[in-house]
Amino acid sequence: MNDKKKVLVSIAWPYANGDMHIGHLAGAYLPADIFARYHRLVGNDVLVVSGSDSHGTPITVRADQDGVSPREVFERYHQRFLETQRDIGISYNLFTHTDTPNHYRVSQDMFLGLLRNGYLYKERQQQYYSEVSQQFLPDRYVEGTCPHCGYPDARGDQCDNCGRLLDALELKNPRSKIDGATPVIRETEHFFIDLEKLEPLVLEYLQTGKEDWRPNVLKFSLNYVKGGLKGRPITRDIEWGIPVPLEGYAGKCLYVWFEAVIGYLSASIEWSKLTGDPEAWKAWWYDPAALPVYFIGKDNIPFHTIIWPAELIGVGQLYEEDPAKRFNLPYDVPANEFMNLSGAQFSKSRGRMIALPDLLERYDADAIRYYVTIVMPETSDSDFYWDDFVQRNNGELVGVWGNLAHRVLSFTHKHFGAVPEPGELADVDRELLVKAEAAFETVGAHLAGRRFRAAMAEAMNLAREANRYLEVKSPWAQLKTDRAASATSLYVALQAINALKVLLAPFLPFSAEKLHKMLGYEDQLFGNQYIEEVEAEGKRYPVLRYDESPARGTWAFETLPAGRVLGQPSPLFKKLDDSVIEEELARLGVR
Ligand code: MF3
Ligand code: ZN
Repeated sequence: MNDKKKVLVSIAWPYANGDMHIGHLAGAYLPADIFARYHRLVGNDVLVVSGSDSHGTPITVRADQDGVSPREVFERYHQRFLETQRDIGISYNLFTHTDTPNHYRVSQDMFLGLLRNGYLYKERQQQYYSEVSQQFLPDRYVEGTCPHCGYPDARGDQCDNCGRLLDALELKNPRSKIDGATPVIRETEHFFIDLEKLEPLVLEYLQTGKEDWRPNVLKFSLNYVKGGLKGRPITRDIEWGIPVPLEGYAGKCLYVWFEAVIGYLSASIEWSKLTGDPEAWKAWWYDPAALPVYFIGKDNIPFHTIIWPAELIGVGQLYEEDPAKRFNLPYDVPANEFMNLSGAQFSKSRGRMIALPDLLERYDADAIRYYVTIVMPETSDSDFYWDDFVQRNNGELVGVWGNLAHRVLSFTHKHFGAVPEPGELADVDRELLVKAEAAFETVGAHLAGRRFRAAMAEAMNLAREANRYLEVKSPWAQLKTDRAASATSLYVALQAINALKVLLAPFLPFSAEKLHKMLGYEDQLFGNQYIEEVEAEGKRYPVLRYDESPARGTWAFETLPAGRVLGQPSPLFKKLDDSVIEEELARLGVR
């Protein structure tokens, strides 16, 4: 038996209809990656999956706007997602997409499994139809007033104001998004998932062992179920998507939300095949000791706490011989709130957004990751302010942590060339070492508990302690009068820096890796991320993968041995000029 925990890090599948922006990063991708990297350092078996959500009306709407095919839209943004996420360092074992033969099969099997188990039913349904455009209107193509909160611009599938999932027919004053006309109602037949029948099981799931869920996520989900679940259609009259796997349903596809969530499972299976161990995924999906955690933004909560568990409960299992085995349900769904831009919502349509590819051209990944972590919208909405970005980059990332490492490393490198031999340690020395060692407990507990801001704050406290230690000891002054005393101080400071390197690595992986080398290590803290063109069942497509072989688990205090030769030091971070603030605000059109 291996006692490593199987940690499944599932991240929301971004619609491949536009670039990723800071809101995505803050909402789901960065917290997921921090969590994944922490567990990788601990030595657990981590599987991080997601992919481009390539179907559905968000893609077709964009394709119509651009006058290109849906395929062209999703392939363009999929490629950009791969590069962006590699560059910002989201350590996926597999980032694929939903237009693969594997995902088609798993989604269709899920559909058939639910049908077999009696959780799907057919019903003739009233659906909006545009006489002007002569087509059925998917929910997203209809807008109107929300029946729950009165918001006038609710989409047919969901209200952006109150978060409720909707049926377009419930909207007041409906209008077609394609042609602006008032749609008419026509009949069409669809499959429904029987949420009414699944309701007691979903409720039981939500009421068992959810003590450490974020209160807002749990409350929202429970209220939702207690309001009464109704069957939801899971097929659509649309050409772009996964066909209903039954005779006589030409022109109908699986609803994008029904199949996108299945991506977590299908991507795990695809990853297993790519690694040459096709059964490997089962350890994360069937072993009750596994830890499946889903990182999403708050607008996705009902799909992950209700619909996806309902699908998993309803189907029970797939591709498994032992009839007693059941799919693992989400252990936690630590949904984040929204991140606003200087006090107003990000909005693609209004140009109020910071695209990540753009940002990565001007700033280092770790500088972006640092700021987004410390203002992460964990328990309430938060704001990205450019002046705050610059100040905290300079004052904290560079001022507290970067300078600490750089001052000590360059001074030691210059005067000793290696980790100095310490003399007898005094209380003040030992105190810092004890604090560094204890930080693995405190920071680790916050990370495991999905409290990323608190984890970062604890780690930065240790950096401040180390700075205070250096103020007291001043090895630069000691060197002139007492070389041995200076050696001891530098030795102790280096131990704290080595600890901070690991403690901060989940947040700041690029600089941590650099520092790891400067401290004379030859292995790596993490594996390597790479984009690869894979071939599966006659299709070729690019994915993001991760090779963990150069890495090792290191979440523990480790003494840097005296005599260890140090690498050539260079600064870990860059100070930003204040002029950056004006430039960025001008780019946003704020000034
Ligand atoms: N594509 C959806 C969005 O961007 C999220 C899908 S998450 C999934 O909001 F789990 F359904 F894939
Ligand atoms: Zn509403």
